[in-house]
Amino acid sequence: MLTRTAAEQSRSSCRPERSEGPAVVDKQAPRYARDDNALRAKPKLWFDGEIADADALQADLSTHAMHYGSGVFEGMRSYATQQGAAVFRLSDHLQRMRRGAELLGIAFDEAQAAEATLQALRANGHRDAYIRPLAWVGTGSFGLDVAGHAQHLMVATTPTLVHLGGTSTRMTVSPWRRNPASSLPPLKLCGAYVNSILAKREAKARGFDEALFVDDDGFVVECTGANVFLVKGGQVTAVDHRDALPGITRDTLIALTGADARAVTLDELRDADEVFACGTAAEVAPIAALDDRVFGDNPISRDLVALYARVVRGEEATAQAWLTPV
Ligand SMILES: Cc1ncc(COP(=O)(O)O)c(C=O)c1O
Repeated sequence: MLTRTAAEQSRSSCRPERSEGPAVVDKQAPRYARDDNALRAKPKLWFDGEIADADALQADLSTHAMHYGSGVFEGMRSYATQQGAAVFRLSDHLQRMRRGAELLGIAFDEAQAAEATLQALRANGHRDAYIRPLAWVGTGSFGLDVAGHAQHLMVATTPTLVHLGGTSTRMTVSPWRRNPASSLPPLKLCGAYVNSILAKREAKARGFDEALFVDDDGFVVECTGANVFLVKGGQVTAVDHRDALPGITRDTLIALTGADARAVTLDELRDADEVFACGTAAEVAPIAALDDRVFGDNPISRDLVALYARVVRGEEATAQAWLTPV
């Protein structure tokens, strides 16, 4: 059972900064209308069993996860469908989150997290939303043994404002290497994302939107928060790499297109007709350029942008099973 510790309930100072969602921030107008009522309302989130005002909650400064990244999160989305708001592939996201929680010894109940997600969306009145569940190790000691520490679960939702830079995403090969799976399993473990933050910062400092991780042998891994596909001669291929997060959007697109998944070298990627990134936040993001390699107008990628948009909004009958009504 996850409970708030007395210390964490009574602590009145040092409110942590609230995140605005995933690392990719839209630079263009959103493609779908924002929910202005939801934007105006005071944000609420689900925390350890209750809905609360987001600004009424604080975390203790000795929170273990703040010092060591001992937490696991998900990035999910709900969409306004004709049948009402629905979460896309909710159980797949929560299964992945459970795998990360288990590694850290954090108790995680998928049914509870699913209910928390729906409650948070309802409390905020969000339809098109980015959803951020986070399970983390709280107070206990500064030691690295997390046994006996407090554990927490929260779910925040924000109106959708995030994805890669539309059709204009410019990507660069990162000098950083991806966390090897033999050191950090490709799950959404909080501390692992320092690797993405370093790569993103370095790419942006050089004027690019996104970084591409490549391994020592010249194989493509993934972006900082998205998987990679290429299109060559009309054939769609998903980049496969053991250090990459097995993305749910990637899985969705493989199912929709019948794309094969295999190892891809950087040379092959540069030689492709089209390249796109994909992820829950990024959706399908055609890549305009990879360093000095400029791609064309990405017709197949743009078709997939449209197909994915129909799927997540329940406009493709075959994809209804992926939607959980709010
Ligand atoms: C490192 C990384 N790769 C890939 C993805 C795409 O995964 P998904 O499609 O499940 O959102 C993400 C998304 O958060 C990510 O953080």
